[in-house]
Amino acid sequence: EPTLRESFEKDFLVGVALPSSTVDGREVDAATVAGSQFSALTPENDMKWASLHPHPERYDFTRGDAYVHFAEQHHMKLIGHTLVWHSQTPEWVFQGAEGQPADRELLLARMKDHIDTVVGHFRGKVHGWDVVNEALSDSPGEDLRDSPWRRIIGDDFIQQAFHFAHAADPTAQLYYNDYGLAQPEKRARAVRLLQRLIDQDVPISAVGMQGHYSLSWPDPAEVEKSIIAFHQLGLKVMITELDIDVLPSRGASGIADIARTEASDPALNPFADTLPATVSQQLADRYTSLFQVFLRHHHAISRVTFWGLHDGRSWLNDFPIRGRTNYPLLFDRSLQPKPAFEAILRIGSTP
Ligand code: G3I
Repeated sequence: EPTLRESFEKDFLVGVALPSSTVDGREVDAATVAGSQFSALTPENDMKWASLHPHPERYDFTRGDAYVHFAEQHHMKLIGHTLVWHSQTPEWVFQGAEGQPADRELLLARMKDHIDTVVGHFRGKVHGWDVVNEALSDSPGEDLRDSPWRRIIGDDFIQQAFHFAHAADPTAQLYYNDYGLAQPEKRARAVRLLQRLIDQDVPISAVGMQGHYSLSWPDPAEVEKSIIAFHQLGLKVMITELDIDVLPSRGASGIADIARTEASDPALNPFADTLPATVSQQLADRYTSLFQVFLRHHHAISRVTFWGLHDGRSWLNDFPIRGRTNYPLLFDRSLQPKPAFEAILRIGSTP
């Protein structure tokens, strides 16, 4: 049987996000599976600002370098995630003197220092960077979300970040990455933003559609529309954070309840012991229909990355409530391939 990376060799890279414990030698079995099945690697948390640059004068590349080593060892493309985001960024970044917020000039200087140092450190080792993550709004009426980056620098914080990154490593690919891009209104917002960047000669190579999906959302036809729309702008498209939530996303009276409820509520954690075969099959079918779309557009798509290796280590066990038992990925908690894995493997185009 071929590996996943072999099966899609002619189509696109197949990537995985890993925690540092898998790349630094603490989880040998997970490392073996990840290193043989996947051709791209994204650090799930360890190249974010808070990890690499926790204090103004201190950069820490220890964990980041472990990913470089792992990627080289297993011939995987390394993806840098992420340079500019509103989350997992320390408070001090946005603070000025005497309790005042930073001003535009100070924040731009900090952004430049961070990007110069980080992208410079990994120059030639990182294949591509998620330069700006999740800058688009989820609400109608405005394209960009409210964030300290936008409030302090202005809308051009995005362009600035791409120019700094390109200067620091002219050979690295540069990406805009966001979630919810299969949703028609957000797709339209993304197209407007990306078109502006292209018109202004911003050095952007591709757009990342995160792909945090569920068994019922989105319709693969909407995913397909987004792939086509982004590719028509002249950009490559990547699915960067693929997983499929199999648990109910809201209680009977909405998402507000769920945050206050305990995962022990069986209605919210229905598969605490085991995933029924019927649901496991639904998951395999969902992944199959998505991969059929990806394959149809293999010329547009350069990479499909799963947001985790196995169900035991997925952010979806803790979101939107902690301590649930979710089953979003291709390998189970014992690192055994699930029916979803076998289903995807069969449809790759490399014999
Ligand atoms: O490492 C600490 C641990 O020491 C501590 O005991 C524990 C208690 O809370 O927290 C641990 O840190 C957690 C970290 O994941 C590592 O597991 C953080 O609390 C938690 O917030 C963090 O969550 C990450 C999340 O980004 C943060 O926003 C998830 O692992 C990671 O999968 C998730 O990834 C994001 C992408 O970067 C961007 N797109 C959405 C995606 C899912 O939210």
